[in-house]
Amino acid sequence: MLARLYDILKEFLYPQKVVSAPPSPPSERARLKVPELGPDQEPRFPLQTAAQKRYRLLRRDLAAGHYPTPLLPKEVDRLPRVIAIANQKGGVGKTTTTINLGAALAELGRKTLLIDLDPQAALSIGFGINSYELEETIYNALVEPERISLQSVIHYEIRPNLDVVPSNIDLAAAEMELVAAIGREYILKEILEPVKERYHYILIDCPPSLSLLTINALTASDSVLIPLQCEYLALRGMRMLMEVIEKAQKKLNPSLKILGILGTMYNARTIHAREIIEEVRSIFGDKVFDVVIHTSIKFAEAPVVHKSILEYADTHPGAVAYRTLAEVIVNGE
Ligand SMILES: Nc1ncnc2c1ncn2[C@@H]1O[C@H](COP(=O)(O)OP(=O)(O)O)[C@@H](O)[C@H]1O
Ligand SMILES: [Mg+2]
Repeated sequence: MLARLYDILKEFLYPQKVVSAPPSPPSERARLKVPELGPDQEPRFPLQTAAQKRYRLLRRDLAAGHYPTPLLPKEVDRLPRVIAIANQKGGVGKTTTTINLGAALAELGRKTLLIDLDPQAALSIGFGINSYELEETIYNALVEPERISLQSVIHYEIRPNLDVVPSNIDLAAAEMELVAAIGREYILKEILEPVKERYHYILIDCPPSLSLLTINALTASDSVLIPLQCEYLALRGMRMLMEVIEKAQKKLNPSLKILGILGTMYNARTIHAREIIEEVRSIFGDKVFDVVIHTSIKFAEAPVVHKSILEYADTHPGAVAYRTLAEVIVNGE
């Protein structure tokens, strides 16, 4: 019985075949790319299907009262992992990705901290935090770190394994206030230091700009995840973003990596969404995640009721896609 459970968990926690495969040969890549389909057909995504299957097993275990071991041995030496979710374009799915990837990592048993670094506070509000009424947010921790620690502004256990640092409109002033600060690009990195070891993953939801806040996120992070909307003009602005990332790598954070580019709001029914993914893959190659996030109204509905899509529409393909992304990340680049 225990051996069987162990096998199930191993299959779930070490999905080697699916996610840690070496760079695929061309034919395999072609298979993983969006296949040619008629306008009414949904393309099949092998990774997503595999995750769905593993998730069914996990649910069976959870129902029986068994929980996965939170920490994989091979993860230990490369923890903690700080990931900036960045793109200076607004409305491309940064906040949605931070919320749902965070929820999926937490569901996998990884202790995860989400940092809302956008004055619009969509992430905080999406978790039902009434950010307008908060006295202390990420803003205070950034501008008066001697007085207010990051630990003291964390909202703990918003969900099991999931903590959130909220923001509010005050953060808009931080840009101006930090301009004169010494080491202004390193402030977030410094205040993160004491909390880092408590988490497996720290995700930073960046504002829609290449401002000092985003630079602080890039300086503080091990890697950056770029959500890219599968729409015309999606690639506009990518060059500028890449230049800023390169500059950050050269001058501020040499170990910063690009974790990957995530296609979002993919509409399988339009030919141009498929063309865009193809084009992005032809430019950025393996940096593009095989997982793509389809367009669904559920993504807009979930935050209204203060839920992640994993809670709101548990078995929806959007939930499966973010779970798959979490697995890909947990299993390493
Ligand atoms: N895959 C998706 N399909 C449909 N709507 C989405 C999807 N991802 C995000 N959205 C919606 O698009 C809007 C912008 O997304 P958001 O994550 O806030 O972008 P950003 O943080 O980059 O500005 C939100 O209303 C969100 O609910
Ligand atoms: Mg946002």
